[in-house]
Amino acid sequence: MVNESKAPSGRVWPRRHEVGEMLLSAEEIGQRVAELGAAISGDYAGLEPRLIGILKGVAPFMADLMRAITIPVSTDYMAISKYDPTSETTSAVRLLKDLDLSITGKHALLVEDVIDSGRTMEYILENLRGREPASLKVCTLFNKPAQRVVDLPLDYVGFDLPDVFVVGYGLDFEQKYRNLPYLATLRTEVDVQ
Ligand code: IMP
Ligand code: MG
Repeated sequence: MVNESKAPSGRVWPRRHEVGEMLLSAEEIGQRVAELGAAISGDYAGLEPRLIGILKGVAPFMADLMRAITIPVSTDYMAISKYDPTSETTSAVRLLKDLDLSITGKHALLVEDVIDSGRTMEYILENLRGREPASLKVCTLFNKPAQRVVDLPLDYVGFDLPDVFVVGYGLDFEQKYRNLPYLATLRTEVDVQ
């Protein structure tokens, strides 16, 4: 894939992005998702939790996680605009699609693909707390603690990752690579010519 970026000199350099090394195989991810599902099934027994997925990256994780849960659950989704890393406040985050269902009095479990700075999740938690759920917890498959700027309570974490940009299993670069069944780094090559 090729896109163009301006070098400081003002010249335009072609930049190629491709999938780099595999960090986690589909099997490793599947095994961890099964463990998370078992833990959630035990912790929420009798509570009929509402799983709330954050679109779009969560799609494969949500599909696998809900099938690894052995107690009755319901699901809902919300979509948030991408947090602009050059901004310093959560006002850079916007709600694009709200939940369909009320969570008042429900045990809500937010399901997210990856948490990096934490700004997106901070915004979501603040937004949902006001709706007075019976409880509100967070489950993220991938956690990148290195760039965290807010103190976030994470109740279920699949994998801690190093501070590298990753793609696959729902995670994208410019909307691509979400359909890779495994997690990989993204390699960027700048062609100097
Ligand atoms: P945060 O607000 O900085 O925690 O960013 C969270 C959002 O940034 C995620 O929901 C992803 O959409 C995106 N993101 C963060 N790190 C990565 C990555 O390594 N690959 C792909 N998307 C990422
Ligand atoms: Mg996301």
